[in-house]
Amino acid sequence: MSRHLLLLLLLFVLSVLCSVLPSAETTDTTPAPMWPPHQRTYDHRPTSDPYCAAGIYPFCPTGLPPGRVPKVKQTDTLYVYAMKAPVWEFKFGDLLKKFDIMHDAIGFHHVESGLNITMEWYELFQLFNCTFPHLRKENNSYELQWCNQGAACLYMGIDEKHWRQNGTLVKISQISGDIFNNFITWSLSDNSTYPFYETWTVMAGPGKTVWFNPFDCASWVLRAFDAMHDLGAEFDQKVHLNYTKVVLYSQQPTLIGNSSTIYNDSKTLDTLVSFYNYFQKRSMADIVLHMLEYAAWFELHKKFYIFYNEQYWELDMVKPYFQLTYDEVPLPGKH
Ligand SMILES: *[C@@H]1O[C@H](CO)[C@@H](O)[C@H](O)[C@H]1NC(C)=O
Ligand SMILES: *[C@@H]1O[C@H](CO)[C@@H](O)[C@H](O)[C@H]1NC(C)=O
Ligand SMILES: *[C@@H]1O[C@H](CO)[C@@H](O)[C@H](O)[C@H]1NC(C)=O
Ligand SMILES: *[C@@H]1O[C@H](CO)[C@@H](O)[C@H](O)[C@H]1NC(C)=O
Ligand SMILES: *[C@@H]1O[C@H](CO)[C@@H](O)[C@H](O)[C@H]1NC(C)=O
Ligand SMILES: *[C@@H]1O[C@H](CO)[C@@H](O)[C@H](O)[C@H]1NC(C)=O
Ligand SMILES: *[C@@H]1O[C@H](CO)[C@@H](O)[C@H](O)[C@H]1NC(C)=O
Ligand SMILES: *[C@@H]1O[C@H](CO)[C@@H](O)[C@H](O)[C@H]1NC(C)=O
Repeated sequence: MSRHLLLLLLLFVLSVLCSVLPSAETTDTTPAPMWPPHQRTYDHRPTSDPYCAAGIYPFCPTGLPPGRVPKVKQTDTLYVYAMKAPVWEFKFGDLLKKFDIMHDAIGFHHVESGLNITMEWYELFQLFNCTFPHLRKENNSYELQWCNQGAACLYMGIDEKHWRQNGTLVKISQISGDIFNNFITWSLSDNSTYPFYETWTVMAGPGKTVWFNPFDCASWVLRAFDAMHDLGAEFDQKVHLNYTKVVLYSQQPTLIGNSSTIYNDSKTLDTLVSFYNYFQKRSMADIVLHMLEYAAWFELHKKFYIFYNEQYWELDMVKPYFQLTYDEVPLPGKH
């Protein structure tokens, strides 16, 4: 049977299914997931390839090792703060704030002892490495090396100036020591369940279907608020918080291979290598700040590739191609 006939048959079957189940959006016959797919879960955090090494900025240099967070008394009180600071503030000051490119974190203040704790989730090997792979040349063929793990970092103290001066430090909840202890337990299991970082949001258009959700510092903060809420925390609904997203607009993504099958498909591999090669010698700040200038490139190629859940997806870009958004996500508990 020709491919066209198969496609027609598939469309027919789907239209019949859809008329029976008007709300059904699943297509069991294709590998495409329900949109947006869930972030893949893992039993434990895989060991990073030895090739991956943090540059000048090591991950979580002053962090408390997992399981070493001091337990507090069940009846103690902790204030919870939402905290934001411009990305790469150490390098660019408040420049990225002008583009609403903010990093998110959570702060805790233990009332009984006066001690403060900061908790944030970020890239083990910096943002660029979570966004594009390295091209490693092995025996005349390329290997796409990803160094894209992200993890939670928990350390003592809150650098008030850092969060307050060009960002946000706002109290959003007051929780018991019991909730805090349970939250720490949650954070340990979350830390091994979701080891990978994802920079991009992919959507059909502004306000339209989400194809892929990001998995970044803000996703962790939102996940953490939900976890705290499930554990009994109540949030101050007067506080409004917006979150940065780096959005790509495309038609429905097409699966083109995964981290192993890609090496059996030289044509697709070549396409990916030339795509990633384009971004290879640029810095992430350069890419984000000049993304609009890449519009010409989008106009010409109309393609983008993303790696999500260890699978490569081809995106047929649609206007406006790319946008930074900074929209509100309400704190949990709003009815
Ligand atoms: C990205 O990963 C490469 C390879 O491990 C490493 O050499 C580089 O320092 C990393 N970049 C940053 C900014 O950490
Ligand atoms: C999460 O995992 C990373 C990487 O193994 C580790 O460095 C970090 O301490 C862990 N965070 C917490 C809060 O346990
Ligand atoms: C806030 O931004 C200003 C202007 O870029 C910069 O001079 C200052 O160092 C920033 N504050 C912090 C805490 O980095
Ligand atoms: C903890 O944070 C509070 C409020 O920001 C501050 O007043 C206090 O000095 C901090 N405590 C320590 C030990 O840093
Ligand atoms: C490259 O070639 C060497 C020698 O033939 C071989 O041992 C090695 O496994 C090859 N590497 C890859 C990634 O194929
Ligand atoms: C890639 O796809 C192959 C074939 O469908 C499958 O056997 C393999 O487990 C997949 N690998 C990953 C990392 O998903
Ligand atoms: C790649 O192709 C070889 C030879 O056809 C096959 O044995 C192997 O299972 C394939 N690997 C993947 C990941 O598809
Ligand atoms: C925050 O998001 C809301 C709606 O999502 C929007 O109306 C508002 O302008 C945003 N605030 C900022 C500072 O961008």
